[in-house]
Amino acid sequence: MSAAALKAARGLIRDFGEVEQLQVSIKGPGDFVSAADLKAERTLKAELSRARPGYAMLFEEGGATEGSDKRHRWIVDPLDGTTNFLHGIPHFCISIGLERDGEIVAGVVYEPTRDELYWAEKGAGAYLNDRRLRVSARRQVGDAVIGTGMPFRDRGDQPAYSAILASIMAATSGVRRFGAAALDLAYVAAGRLDGFWEFGLSPWDIAAGMLLVREAGGYVSDLSGGQTMMTSGDILAANDHLHLPLAALIREATRAPRRG
Ligand code: IPD
Ligand code: CA
Ligand code: CA
Repeated sequence: MSAAALKAARGLIRDFGEVEQLQVSIKGPGDFVSAADLKAERTLKAELSRARPGYAMLFEEGGATEGSDKRHRWIVDPLDGTTNFLHGIPHFCISIGLERDGEIVAGVVYEPTRDELYWAEKGAGAYLNDRRLRVSARRQVGDAVIGTGMPFRDRGDQPAYSAILASIMAATSGVRRFGAAALDLAYVAAGRLDGFWEFGLSPWDIAAGMLLVREAGGYVSDLSGGQTMMTSGDILAANDHLHLPLAALIREATRAPRRG
């Protein structure tokens, strides 16, 4: 998984350099970025299927492919943080999750611009390069820095999201919107963020990151405390102390009548 990510990342880094040039052209880097995304996906597909022929696959761009092996499935986002990439913002990653019998058992999130390889194996811990990861130890919501993903364009229930954001903003040390959900989860695992929430994500955004957080000692649930993240796309990840109070803030904000 790491080798596949590193290989695909070489192409992304080259293409990211181009994007910076295309930024000032009239046509902009749009089509070029779509091509970069597809190229990374092709590399990942080729590497992963060469290493483990027969595994099923779920790729963001190419969708689902059945495999002869009914137990295993790769769940892959070849470029998470596309909007950042498109705008020349160096914050994007490759995310690869491995599912066995419906459960995520291994995950890799690679951030090419910082050469940071996050990886986890079920029961064996989470790591950043060769350093073991632990979620943050903060206990007070007031000290916490929380990551999120905001709905954009016509996506999501924006009034409901705004109510939650207002409540988390008022209760914590601050909210960050970095623009790559897989990396947000990796940052929770690394203790950089104390928590993260977003609605409506896709399995490839969260498969690897969820395992990173769990293996770093954190807790992951959907927004009502259940485990439907992979199907609902709604996720709240945090250290054990902060998960409950954050979940309560989200629940209350969703319930409270809104003005206007
Ligand atoms: C997006 C990023 C972003 C999140 C969006 C995702 P993409 O993935 O993870 O942070 O807010 O919901 O769709 O499109 O860059 O692969
Ligand atoms: Ca994504
Ligand atoms: Ca993507």
